[in-house]
Amino acid sequence: MEILLSPDELAAGIDRLAADVRRVVGDRPLTVVGVLTGSIVVVADLIRRLDGPVTVSMVWASSYRGTATSPGTLDLRLDLLPDLAGRHVLLVDDIFDTGRTLQALLEELRRRGAASVRSLVLLRKAGRTEVAIEPDFVGFEIPDKFVVGYGLDFDGGLRHLPHLAALDDADIAAARGAAATDAKTPDPVGSPRA
Ligand code: IMP
Ligand code: MG
Repeated sequence: MEILLSPDELAAGIDRLAADVRRVVGDRPLTVVGVLTGSIVVVADLIRRLDGPVTVSMVWASSYRGTATSPGTLDLRLDLLPDLAGRHVLLVDDIFDTGRTLQALLEELRRRGAASVRSLVLLRKAGRTEVAIEPDFVGFEIPDKFVVGYGLDFDGGLRHLPHLAALDDADIAAARGAAATDAKTPDPVGSPRA
């Protein structure tokens, strides 16, 4: 595994993002909407850097299934959202890859009568965008590699790494091999990964 961003570099990125958000939104109350599950670490760190009034809620989205590293069908769950009418909303995700997740979620949030809806991603992968929208705030541009840690998973694991690492083909093949050997102990939840 190749380390792309250290914990210190990630923390500096979060500081920058929080300052940029407040520069744009001012001290108006902000409703942070995190995208489960990958954004949990970004949300936890970001909200502690956002001075001024903040509320937090979560939605769930999944496009990756099991060990697949290319997106499948998009599955969204928005039933935990509060009333967003008149609110200034900041949608927060871990990574902008094709952009399809963020585009779909922004459409849903804009339907709910918010005063403003902006988007923030920790990472944007180079050369992968398939949509016409751009996130309002981007922490880091990264190369087109599969990354894990700081909330991002491979097949449900590795989210807890304090740094961001890139998996190469050998890492992915090894993980798939381990998953195949493990097949006799099936995932008790059996749900798609977010
Ligand atoms: P998009 O809809 O293609 O932009 O995909 C965004 C979602 O795919 C993110 O919220 C992540 O959950 C997942 N994803 C995309 N690239 C990676 C990666 O390199 N590692 C882990 N998850 C990823
Ligand atoms: Mg995600």
